[in-house]
Amino acid sequence: MRRHGVRGAAVRAAERGLLWVRRWFLLSERHLWFEIPSDGGAPPAPPDGYRVRRGDPTDVDALAALGVLNGDVARGWIEDGDQLWVGTHGDELVYSIWLHRGRVPAVAMRGGWMPLPANVLCLEGAYAMPRHRHLGVGRCAVRHAIATSRTDGSERVVVRIAEDNIASRKSVAKLGARAFARMRFLRVGPWRRIRIEPDGDAQLTAALERAFHERCRTPPT
Ligand SMILES: CC(C)(COP(=O)(O)OP(=O)(O)OC[C@H]1O[C@@H](n2cnc3c(N)ncnc32)[C@H](O)[C@@H]1OP(=O)(O)O)[C@@H](O)C(=O)NCCC(=O)NCCS
Repeated sequence: MRRHGVRGAAVRAAERGLLWVRRWFLLSERHLWFEIPSDGGAPPAPPDGYRVRRGDPTDVDALAALGVLNGDVARGWIEDGDQLWVGTHGDELVYSIWLHRGRVPAVAMRGGWMPLPANVLCLEGAYAMPRHRHLGVGRCAVRHAIATSRTDGSERVVVRIAEDNIASRKSVAKLGARAFARMRFLRVGPWRRIRIEPDGDAQLTAALERAFHERCRTPPT
């Protein structure tokens, strides 16, 4: 206070206040939704030296120790039936991705989940250790997850990617993914607004919107 004067202290307090307001009250996100079509074929073999497989609670602990995920949260997801898929190189965990059915985690939403139509499988949270990127491990894990999880032809596989995440957009493009909707989420304090606009597949967008609004009318349990 003595060094910066009353005015300086007030400015810094205002800046801190603004940061707090932004972190807790203001959230603005832009995402693109992509559908990954079934290529009908067997999933590709992983690159030499790599394996992909369904993850288990031991993997959750290892990934939590690496700082890739929150162990408490992820163990709950596994108990709820959400699927973790991992890529390994020897004993090392090098890749992970989640596959959720009928919902996707969204910090922005009440309860932390965004509801999706029941026949929609959603990939989420892909992460490859930097040394193991660009080798095709991600593509291979996604194909295995889809081939194993899709129980009938009516199920659709989607992924939500931040508009500015170019690397991820390129990686799903290599899987033949097509954008079908844009989503803008804005939260200001308790007020929240979601806008979903078709960008390719109006039917799938409408299903997404319907599921979102129907479930959001249901009071939280
Ligand atoms: C996105 C990610 C999971 C891809 O994993 P991966 O195992 O490298 O994926 P693949 O090797 O199967 O596919 C790689 C393709 O993605 C694209 N790609 C991956 N990383 C990229 C980067 N840093 N810059 C540009 N393109 C990239 C490329 O098109 C690449 O194909 P290519 O190697 O033939 O050029 C990985 O880059 C990652 O962990 N990124 C940081 C976390 C993240 O953004 N996760 C996505 C959240 S939705």
